[in-house]
Amino acid sequence: MRVLEEPCYSKVFQTFHPLKPTSIQMTLMGLLCSLALSTQLLLLFSYSLFTNCLTLNDSTSTHHHECHQHESNALLSFKQSFIISKSASYNTFSYPKTVSWIPTTDCCSWDGIECDELTGHVISIDLSSSLLYGSMDPYSTLFSLVHLQSLDLSDNDFNHSQIPARIGHLSQLRHLNISQFGDTTLSGEVPTQISHLSNLLSLDLRSYIDPQLDYPLINRLQLKESTLRSLIQNSTRLEQLGLNFVTISSSLSHTLTNLTSLQKLSFRHCELHGEFPIGIFSLANLTYLNFAKNHNLQGTLPASIGNLTNLAYLALDHNSFHGEIPRSLFGLENLVTLDLASNYFDGRLTLDMFLKLKMLNGLDLSYNKLSLFSQNRDVNVTILPPIQKLGLGGCNLAGEVPTWIMNLTTLSELDLSRNNLQGEIPYFFFRLENLTVLNLSNNILEGQIELDMLSKLKKLTGLALGGGNKFYFLEGKNTSNVTFPSQIQTLILGSCNLVHFPNFIQHLQQLTDLYLSNNSIKTIPSWLWNKTTLQTLFISNNLLIGEISPSICNLQSLVVLALSSNNLVGMIPSCLGTFSRSLQVLDLAGNKLTGNIPQTYVKGNALQFIDFSSNKLYGQLPRALVNCRMLEFLDVNHNHFNDSFPFWLGSLPKLKVVSLRDNEFHGAIMCPLKYTFPQL
Ligand SMILES: *[C@@H]1O[C@H](CO)[C@@H](O)[C@H](O)[C@H]1NC(C)=O
Ligand SMILES: *[C@@H]1O[C@H](CO)[C@@H](O)[C@H](O)[C@H]1NC(C)=O
Ligand SMILES: *[C@@H]1O[C@H](CO)[C@@H](O)[C@H](O)[C@H]1NC(C)=O
Ligand SMILES: *[C@@H]1O[C@H](CO)[C@@H](O)[C@H](O)[C@H]1NC(C)=O
Ligand SMILES: *[C@@H]1O[C@H](CO)[C@@H](O)[C@H](O)[C@H]1NC(C)=O
Ligand SMILES: *[C@@H]1O[C@H](CO)[C@@H](O)[C@H](O)[C@H]1NC(C)=O
Ligand SMILES: *[C@@H]1O[C@H](CO)[C@@H](O)[C@H](O)[C@H]1NC(C)=O
Ligand SMILES: *[C@@H]1O[C@H](CO)[C@@H](O)[C@H](O)[C@H]1NC(C)=O
Ligand SMILES: *[C@@H]1O[C@H](CO)[C@@H](O)[C@H](O)[C@H]1NC(C)=O
Ligand SMILES: *[C@@H]1O[C@H](CO)[C@@H](O)[C@H](O)[C@H]1NC(C)=O
Ligand SMILES: *[C@@H]1O[C@H](CO)[C@@H](O)[C@H](O)[C@H]1NC(C)=O
Ligand SMILES: *[C@@H]1O[C@H](CO)[C@@H](O)[C@H](O)[C@H]1NC(C)=O
Repeated sequence: MRVLEEPCYSKVFQTFHPLKPTSIQMTLMGLLCSLALSTQLLLLFSYSLFTNCLTLNDSTSTHHHECHQHESNALLSFKQSFIISKSASYNTFSYPKTVSWIPTTDCCSWDGIECDELTGHVISIDLSSSLLYGSMDPYSTLFSLVHLQSLDLSDNDFNHSQIPARIGHLSQLRHLNISQFGDTTLSGEVPTQISHLSNLLSLDLRSYIDPQLDYPLINRLQLKESTLRSLIQNSTRLEQLGLNFVTISSSLSHTLTNLTSLQKLSFRHCELHGEFPIGIFSLANLTYLNFAKNHNLQGTLPASIGNLTNLAYLALDHNSFHGEIPRSLFGLENLVTLDLASNYFDGRLTLDMFLKLKMLNGLDLSYNKLSLFSQNRDVNVTILPPIQKLGLGGCNLAGEVPTWIMNLTTLSELDLSRNNLQGEIPYFFFRLENLTVLNLSNNILEGQIELDMLSKLKKLTGLALGGGNKFYFLEGKNTSNVTFPSQIQTLILGSCNLVHFPNFIQHLQQLTDLYLSNNSIKTIPSWLWNKTTLQTLFISNNLLIGEISPSICNLQSLVVLALSSNNLVGMIPSCLGTFSRSLQVLDLAGNKLTGNIPQTYVKGNALQFIDFSSNKLYGQLPRALVNCRMLEFLDVNHNHFNDSFPFWLGSLPKLKVVSLRDNEFHGAIMCPLKYTFPQL
């Protein structure tokens, strides 16, 4: 049931999660994208650039070696094994570099190819974001290019093929990049032969994800611990190692400590467990250390962390670290990002400890056992670091909202949720002009919030005020000309004593997530069904009356629909089983709904959670529920269903919970052999 208890908050927290390594990069991308540089324009641009280079180089490079014929052939045959597909790359600047690979020209002049000036051998291939789609051929001619020092195949679509073992033939490689955006298009194990690349300076096998959607990736590469160990033994010059989202599933060998040249180490979400090798903190050249989201990675931070004077990025969030945060950490003057959220760190932190961190831009200490500064009148707040993202959720902050926050004028994202903050919401929030995300949910704040106050926050995209607080939300008498920040995407107003559905929501053109549970709203305005940008809609535990409008099926992007614990009557619109391919959660429990439940469920739907319990529904369970291959939870208890035991549900591979209680099911409980309920 947790899915529906606090989904919103966890979602908000994810959405709001203050410290995402790539968010700046993403924002930039979005920005540049919106400059309306169409792909075609870019293509044209790069082609003309290329033609210019070619003519220039042709006239001046006569003394240079031309490309070796066998290397040229090898490259051409590598090119042939892929097709160009617009959807193969994620980067908006992608273009097909191999288009310039023409047999009659010198391969050293091809886009993405670099040759050695003296020998003419191909030493570098950069085919990043080149719209390549196709499988990696295990016997690809690519692996005959033994002089290669750099190979970048990142951001292409390899059609779920494996990394060929022959990669180990490229023994001169210094840089290897096969990173991808989102779910990797490679599959299987990273071949052990990767450890033969003893000259590697950088190895990047990461999956990057959109920081806004930190969803669990389904396709992941696997890296055996023994392969990692061999790699570390052989590739002793490594400066950068990126394995985010590669499944390692073991403890980390202490041998990492031998890689004394390491600068960037990135093992986010690798399912690592066991003790964190403390020796890593003795790698003096580290600038970037990311071991976030390994959950069962344990350890303490040693005082020697203070020796890492170049460290700019430290993310150890969502692990099981414990103990005090050593004071020496607060002397790392180059630290830009510090994310220690969701661990078991304890001890007391005071505001003045942060004053030396002059570069600090992102700080997240949420969900630990820390006792934090709240008020700190003795500190000279004019010299606080220029923090933009501050996460102090679940930090046991008590009393009034700390006033020093008002002097963090650079703040863009602020999470103070799940504390014990009391009193009125301070007016200074509305002067933090650059706030994009404000999460005050689950405190014991109170008082009136007026719309025109919020309208001062012109950049706000996410606002969470609900849960535990006792806000009275005043729309004001004259809301027609209040310019509420119309760019809001996420709005959380649970437990806000709302009696009416807030009218201003109509003007939020970009709303994706709306949470209005635990209020006293009686009716849903019909304009809501026109908000087709909505992905999550929670109006549970209100006083909703009347029927569910079939127009709800206009909301074709919905992922979560929760209308439970209301007084809704009538039939469930039959389109609810088919209207959205993205719908994962459908919760209509605790109403007075009657009739049959939707009979059709499209193949390939995403439903994971269906709760129709405590209504007045009847009839049989539709056999089409077997189309819900992702279904994990089905609750129809306390209705009037009349059917034999639905053994056929036993073919659903992920089904964990079925509740049929308090109905008119009858007959024997038996399952033919192939209906095994494998996860029940
Ligand atoms: C000429 O080619 C070399 C190597 O291929 C490249 O580095 C250089 O940028 C090119 N020169 C011009 C002017 O494009
Ligand atoms: C992608 O993989 C599938 C299954 O292995 C294969 O049938 C198909 O030909 C591949 N497509 C390309 C473009 O390589
Ligand atoms: C690998 O490629 C990606 C995407 O092209 C890039 O963002 C990343 O910085 C590269 N990794 C390294 C270690 O250079
Ligand atoms: C180290 O690399 C060499 C080739 O470069 C290879 O023969 C050897 O097996 C590798 N060692 C390990 C432990 O992988
Ligand atoms: C680590 O380096 C030391 C000293 O160079 C060496 O003796 C040891 O074998 C190395 N350990 C591993 C596991 O490579
Ligand atoms: C650390 O970085 C410095 C400066 O870039 C460099 O001189 C030194 O060799 C590096 N140390 C190691 C062990 O790579
Ligand atoms: C590293 O830090 C520890 C503890 O702070 C200190 O005793 C030690 O001298 C430092 N080592 C170096 C090489 O700076
Ligand atoms: C606070 O810091 C500023 C800037 O360093 C300085 O000008 C000011 O005098 C300080 N105020 C106090 C009370 O120390
Ligand atoms: C903090 O901000 C408040 C409100 O803007 C201002 O009155 C006060 O002077 C600031 N304090 C410091 C020390 O800058
Ligand atoms: C707010 O953001 C704008 C644009 O990024 C910036 O120019 C301005 O300095 C910021 N304001 C503060 C107080 O940091
Ligand atoms: C709303 O419109 C009225 C009448 O035009 C005007 O007096 C008032 O200032 C406006 N309010 C806002 C917040 O713009
Ligand atoms: C919803 O959108 C349709 C089509 O754009 C429009 O005709 C209708 O009036 C809208 N309904 C409401 C209640 O805004």
